Amino acid sequence: MTPTPIIIDCDPGHDDAIALLLAVASPEVELVGVTTVAGNQTVDKTTNNALRVLELAGRTDIPVYRGADRPFLRKQDVAPHVHGESGLDGPDLPQPTTREQDEHAVEYLAREIRARDGRITLVPTGPLTNVGLLFALHPDIRPERIVLMGGAIGEGNRTPAAEFNIWADPEAAQRVFLEGLDTTMVGLDVTHRATIKDEHTERMRGAGRIGSVVAELMDFYARFHKKRYPDLDGSPMHDPVCVAHLIDPSLMTVADAVVEVDCSGGPSWGRTNVDHRNREHFGDPNAKVGVDIDGNRFAELIVERIASLN
Ligand code: RIB
Ligand code: CA
Repeated sequence: MTPTPIIIDCDPGHDDAIALLLAVASPEVELVGVTTVAGNQTVDKTTNNALRVLELAGRTDIPVYRGADRPFLRKQDVAPHVHGESGLDGPDLPQPTTREQDEHAVEYLAREIRARDGRITLVPTGPLTNVGLLFALHPDIRPERIVLMGGAIGEGNRTPAAEFNIWADPEAAQRVFLEGLDTTMVGLDVTHRATIKDEHTERMRGAGRIGSVVAELMDFYARFHKKRYPDLDGSPMHDPVCVAHLIDPSLMTVADAVVEVDCSGGPSWGRTNVDHRNREHFGDPNAKVGVDIDGNRFAELIVERIASLN
């Protein structure tokens, strides 16, 4: 089976880091490049974290490209309360011995997608600033597929209305959904059912060098989620769901939907209004939206693949 070539556009971030590790541990996908964006932390820190995670996995052959340092219009907001000052607090991960490429992330994305004649899947797991800029600067660029972490049919997380990645740069997100590409939205409705529990963390802790680092990431990440979401059974693995969906599409159920991003200045800005019930006056679907996931099989995939790394 030929692996699916992917580029992960990310803001590591604990769950981004686990998504990167899941990708390099999985023969079903080929991680050809990583681009970074400001989101969970500044782009300096998210870039440093991407380099550190790839070096941990022994994959410094995968190039990293630095992207946008702030949203199109909205004020930059980082999340140290979730991911710490470094954006990857918890384990003592050494500073990288490699550095990012000189080319800007958006130019790399355009070059790589063109070189592959569009035959590549974009996996954005942070704010969509880079991807929005890509389509604004290079309207000819048509990746064959986008599987993005963001949004929600129901309750948000950054605000009651909006999920963080979309809230951080709603204008960029709206541009992406307007492109009419094969786009899958992995929202909180499924990621809150894709959790890693303490039992999974303990199994990874005992599964070698990288497993123990992931366990330390989970120790830090779970601290916030146990307080904010005591009703969740474990910590939500938002970004890894995108990669898991490409590894095993049977894990997540999707529905055709019309997704519209609230770019107003009101209290619900950044919300994804998702119509998956074919309501009148909503036009043709512009995305597939995750509506259910087999959380147990997802968690087993994470533990199995992380344990396979060393
Ligand atoms: O709302 C969750 C998303 O915001 C995840 O991608 C997390 O890493 C943060 O970027
Ligand atoms: Ca992220």
